[in-house]
Amino acid sequence: MERKKVTLPDLMRKKEQGIPLTMLTAYDYPFAQAVDNAGIDLILVGDSYGMVVLGYNSTVPVTMEQMLTASQAVARGARYSFLVGDMPFMSYQAETAEAVRNAGRFIKEANMDAVKLEGGSKVAQTVRAITNAGIPVMGHIGLTPQSISQLGGYRTQGVTAAAARELVDDALALQAAGCFAIVLEKVPERVAAYITKRLHIPTIGIGAGAHTDGQVLVIHDLLGLFDRFLPKFAKQYAQLHGNIAQALSAYRTDVETRAFPAPEHAFAIKESEWETFMQSADDVATDVPPVFVDDSVDATRVY
Ligand code: KIV
Repeated sequence: MERKKVTLPDLMRKKEQGIPLTMLTAYDYPFAQAVDNAGIDLILVGDSYGMVVLGYNSTVPVTMEQMLTASQAVARGARYSFLVGDMPFMSYQAETAEAVRNAGRFIKEANMDAVKLEGGSKVAQTVRAITNAGIPVMGHIGLTPQSISQLGGYRTQGVTAAAARELVDDALALQAAGCFAIVLEKVPERVAAYITKRLHIPTIGIGAGAHTDGQVLVIHDLLGLFDRFLPKFAKQYAQLHGNIAQALSAYRTDVETRAFPAPEHAFAIKESEWETFMQSADDVATDVPPVFVDDSVDATRVY
């Protein structure tokens, strides 16, 4: 079947039919291509970019400009997945008009299909203003890393009856404000299952158990590319950190032992041109070995 770009109605249809939604983060062109080629429904250019790529200790320092640059690269690599740009801390909290303008930049300058922002009832008005501007919004409740100081750490949310009730109210407020989906991060499985049943829009879980409408992971966790920690809720499908270390060490050895570059990596000069050149050469570098390769076709990049 011919593959088509994922749309909002496709996401709703999957919820109605009980088909799990898949979402992964990506922050650059090659990973966006890989995620898109794998048939993943949604790509989130998450502000986790700040931690797993830029090396910050939290997502708080991430700026609009950094998110836009990453989003632009992702949009160039992905053809079919639905693209969500994560609004960074302080790009939507201070003023509604500023929030709408910043959301608009993700769509207009970075080719995103939607934006995501953190918070429940308190951001419902902002969500309404952004959706009124014609921009789809994904909500994000439970553990909201941008408010990590206020939450007192990366602990599970909604673990008391009152806190679970608050999460349900937040989810309903976001749905009423026009969100097309909501991320539930690090909340008890039963609470996530309950919220998923109460909503007509999809829930996408991360550390929220098996009963949400979809799942999301940070791609660096999934691939074993982030060395600082692995959250309990993440599953590692590869340990690329180790593979990369091996590849880099092999490169170093090859260069040090002159095994790289090999003749097939080099370019030739015609013998007649070389001889003419040598006649005019007035230094001692005349014992340069010849290179016999066919370099008439070179489809590689030119830096
Ligand atoms: O920034 C991010 O990657 C996220 C996901 C963890 C949902 O918000």
